[in-house]
Amino acid sequence: MCGIIGYVGGREAAPILMEGLRRLEYRGYDSAGLCVADAKGRLTLVRAVGKLSKLDDKVREAPLKGRSGVGHSRWATHGRPTEENAHPHTDCSGKLVVIHNGIIENYLELKAELQAAGHAFRSETDTEVAAHLIEQELKVLAKGKTAFAPDFKEPMLFEAVRLAFQRISGAYAIAVLWAETPGMLVAVKTASPLVVGLGEGEAFLASDVPAFLEHTRKAVFLDDGEMAVLRRESVSFFKLSGAKIDKKPQTIAWDRAMAEKAGFKHFMLKEIHEQPQTVADTLRGRLYPLKSGALAAETGLSAHVLSGIDRVELLACGTAHHAGLIGKYLVERLAGLPAEAEMASEFRYRDPIVDPKALVVAISQSGETADTLSAVRLAKGRGLKVLSICNCLGSALTREADFNLYTHCGPEFGVASTKAFSGQLAALAAFALHLGLARGTLDEKRARALIDEIVRLPGLLRQVLKLDAQAQELAKRFFKVRDFLYIGRHVNYPIALEGALKLKEISYIHAEGYPAGEMKHGPIALIDETMPVVAIATQSAVFEKMLSNVEEAKARGAIVIALCTEGEKRLLGRADHILWLPKTDEFLSPILNVVPLQLLAYHIANLLGCDVDQPRNLAKSVTVE
Ligand code: AGP
Repeated sequence: MCGIIGYVGGREAAPILMEGLRRLEYRGYDSAGLCVADAKGRLTLVRAVGKLSKLDDKVREAPLKGRSGVGHSRWATHGRPTEENAHPHTDCSGKLVVIHNGIIENYLELKAELQAAGHAFRSETDTEVAAHLIEQELKVLAKGKTAFAPDFKEPMLFEAVRLAFQRISGAYAIAVLWAETPGMLVAVKTASPLVVGLGEGEAFLASDVPAFLEHTRKAVFLDDGEMAVLRRESVSFFKLSGAKIDKKPQTIAWDRAMAEKAGFKHFMLKEIHEQPQTVADTLRGRLYPLKSGALAAETGLSAHVLSGIDRVELLACGTAHHAGLIGKYLVERLAGLPAEAEMASEFRYRDPIVDPKALVVAISQSGETADTLSAVRLAKGRGLKVLSICNCLGSALTREADFNLYTHCGPEFGVASTKAFSGQLAALAAFALHLGLARGTLDEKRARALIDEIVRLPGLLRQVLKLDAQAQELAKRFFKVRDFLYIGRHVNYPIALEGALKLKEISYIHAEGYPAGEMKHGPIALIDETMPVVAIATQSAVFEKMLSNVEEAKARGAIVIALCTEGEKRLLGRADHILWLPKTDEFLSPILNVVPLQLLAYHIANLLGCDVDQPRNLAKSVTVE
């Protein structure tokens, strides 16, 4: 989730671009860069690793002159956080500049084709491919034309960008600046956010409105498959087909703080609502092709490596551990391999007996959790290979792991993990699917059927988010309660744990997650009308068992809040409150079921006036033991 900004107008671009990047800092950064063009097409490009202040220092040293330009703050997905990998990226000529937010799925094959055509690459990023591809298209378009006629240059750039993006697949919000056409920016948008700001005699483009809100509140939000051409005096919009289109400007009413949270009151609520996008981003390019293993190219987890594994050990802490518990079910069911999910803080101190052919899967949003890092070091010391599932490229865990499978969730600011959790589940599903295919325990037909379900998840998540209003109503009824019990079975038992954790860590209400089958072995003694029971009873092989648990709880006076699959009627009249979820594969249901529990916890904490984004006693990353 990078931040991009562009400017063309009558003012010096550099200060506007720098301020815009500062306004986009919440989108995360590990490096940043600017490029401005003066009226003669002289480009000045500056990049720096680390905080934006590093870039600011460089910009102050060598003032950048020019009234058009682009800026970028990077949240790395491909290629470590280094100056060479920072944006903007240029083509071979150094005259064409590109900035990008998103993921180019087919960058490896395009890069090989361009290298074979003589293009020299300077970075490890997928973005640089776009710069060289546009350069290649410009060469073809310019063939036969001895010099660029002034009025031909701009249409030629537009056409070169358009043709290049006919060949690029993935997610992108791209801005292109060319030294031959310094008064023009070309932008393309598919699956990553891009908004154009319309000023008086100037125009802006950015990943999000905070970047230019102080200059204009008139904004045009691009849709997928659309382009924009920005000039000082006018902005035009097109389809990728080249057809000109009209786009209706909107007036942004938010102040800046609200805009950073996209109008949500807290980052946590914004991040809950980002999950359709972040799950889609994490799955992108990781399901197909089946045969060669979509993960191999990116992670090194080749079919050969995967087929040599005979056990999986999932290590993590907190919410990430709950993801690991679900990963255990996915690996055992889809890959037919024994799997164990363990708290890293326990694994590291029990002098474990390890299977030399086991693969450790270390799950961590931050990649800096002390217990997880120590458990990984112990496992590596015993000769085991480690795959990380992590959200922060370049973090300690990703530097120590043998293989890295990133969640593409962008920075998660809420201390209570939400979108990172669903991203971890998406990554685990892709991993287990390819592990099963490599081992031959998952046939192609079942894999394709599962993928058909997996690709529906972002849409189903958008549907589940409509439960926000009902969760808010339930919060109003129960926010004064002092104890909650969450129960679930099988692949949804970890969701009972996660739902309880969400509630206790942001509302400070005591909540326990329990395997529903354990009720008779003690917890049922707790039940009375003062302690709501949240039962995760969506469609599964153990639904009837959950039905009995709800009956048992009701018989002891409990108030039951049940999660059920649409169309299932047997809990009507038994559960006191039902949240209806869309049908999906049982093994994918945790990704949907966690959302109403995140929303319930959020609204209860909000009603209690808790500091939802920074709860007391907690840190976003527990880097100490
Ligand atoms: C989750 O809501 C908590 N903030 C916490 O349990 C967190 O999941 C845990 O500390 C692990 O963090 P990590 O994913 O960065 O390793």
